[in-house]
Formats: sequence, C-alpha cells, structure tokens
Amino acid sequence: MKVRKAVIPAAGLGTRFLPATKALAKEMLPIVDKPTIQFIVEEAKASGIEDILIIEGKSKRSIEDHFDSAPELEQNLAAKGKQTMLDMVHETTDIGVNLFYVRQPHPLGLGDAVGMAKSFVADEPFVVMLGDDLMRDKVPLTQQLINDYNQTKSSILAVKRVPHEEVGAYGVIAPSGEVQDGLYNVDSFVEKPSPEAAPSDLAIIGRYLLTPEIFGILDQHKIGKGGEVQLTDAIDELNKTQRVFAREFMGERFDVGNKFGFVKTTIEYGLRHPEVKDELRKYIIELGKLL
Ligand code: G1P
Repeated sequence: MKVRKAVIPAAGLGTRFLPATKALAKEMLPIVDKPTIQFIVEEAKASGIEDILIIEGKSKRSIEDHFDSAPELEQNLAAKGKQTMLDMVHETTDIGVNLFYVRQPHPLGLGDAVGMAKSFVADEPFVVMLGDDLMRDKVPLTQQLINDYNQTKSSILAVKRVPHEEVGAYGVIAPSGEVQDGLYNVDSFVEKPSPEAAPSDLAIIGRYLLTPEIFGILDQHKIGKGGEVQLTDAIDELNKTQRVFAREFMGERFDVGNKFGFVKTTIEYGLRHPEVKDELRKYIIELGKLL
C-alpha cells in the first residue's frame, strides 16, 4: 500500500521557548523567515505525502492561518506589485498537500497525540514527523523511510548516533544486527534511558514510519516515562508482534526544540539563505575576532 499520510504532532506547550510561546505555537517560530512547521510540511510533500494531520494544542490557530489564504495581505502586495512576496504567500497556501487539523485536549504525551490520528490513518501505513527536528539530505528522510517500507512492508524509525552523555534526551534502540547497510533489526526501544542504562548511542530522531497496528497499542494508554503515554513504549510493544526496523540517518539533523539548537540552526540556514548569507558570513568572521 502506498504511504500517503503523515501525522505532525504540534500540541506541546513549548515551555522551552517562553515567553515567545505564550500565545504563539512553537512550530511557528521562524528559521530566518520560514516557520519550522513549513519545513516539515515541505519535506512531507517532497516525499510524496498527500494528506497531513496536524495535532494541535491550545493557542495553535496561527498554524492554520499560516497555511490559509490571506486576502487582505495578498491584495496589498498585488497592488504594490510585490510579486516575489506574493509568490511566497501563495506557496504556503497552495502547498500541494491536504491539511487536516485536530486538537489534543490534554497534553498527555506524544503517544496520546499520535493516538488521536487513528481514524484519519485508518488501515494505512503512515509517517509521524516531529517538528523539533529539521533534516537535510539529498533524498528527504521521510522518503528514505518510505523506500525502506516499500521493500520491507514493516515499521521503520529513523535513528542517529548522538554523544553518549546526551542519550537521556531521546528514545534509544537496542540494535540486534544490520540487515542492510544502515538498516537495523531492533531488540528493544527504550524511552530516555540514563547513559549508564542506554543500550546504544542510536537515538530516535523525529521521523517514524508506522503500520496502523500501533493504534491498538496506543489505545491502551499505558503511562510511561514522565507520566506520559510514550510512543517509544508503544513501538517497543509493536516490535513483539511485528518487526520494527531502524534506519540510521546519515544526513544533517538540526534540533530546533531547544534554545541553543534553535540559534545554531538559524545561523546554519542563514549562511545558505540567498538574501543574508554574504552579510552574515562577514559578520560572523568579524564577531569571531572579538570573542
Ligand atoms: C520525543 C520522543 C523521543 C525522541 C525525540 C526525538 O521526545 O519521545 O523518543 O527521541 O522526540 O526528537 P521529546 O523530544 O519530545 O522529549
């Protein structure tokens, strides 16, 4: 079955970015000039996804508005002949995928948020894309997972090696051998282990391809680490009845879910942004001399 649906959980409270996220969705914070969620939607589209469900929390109307038309703004830009800007606005409206929205009434964790996608997904394989991770590679990571699925017909998670002292911030896999270059069989999936207890340094990054059987497990609402329903726990359970693989991602990953990562990503993307890259480069070199 063709993978054509994606779920983007965007219901977190965004507390790491307060006060900016008091009234604004974290997913609307821009990297230079584009909200992080637009990068995610673009990756989905580039990977052949047709329908996307965004799981929202409170104060998230800005996400829906971002992908909607803005007649007053468009008229204004058209009247002033600002075609490039108008094209930019149209790109967000005519994004080329169908967007659906649902609200998660209580922030009960990633597993609970994904569980809300059950009737949207129905009986199809689907991808989960987390907004905190931006990926860059020749082939989009979501497309890589879909390619693996087309071969294996199994669930696959993207993983990446992280420094050992950082494993506690991630779901971590216990690999049990490579089936192909970079594709692992997995013994177990552990949410946020202590570095001493971590089975490896292969951390789950924000892209998952899952079979719909995951919903039968998420429906049980088992509470895990941090008092939340953990997607990692449900995947570990799924792996006992059907194989779940891990794909090691060799491209670049930018973690925009914390302040330092966000600032670094802004600099990296700024250094490639046609409008600001030259000035930014000069500025960083000059600034470096003073530091
Ligand atoms: C979530 C998942 C975790 C995963 C991480 C990737 O954690 O629970 O397994 O490794 O995303 O970004 P969070 O960052 O939401 O705490």
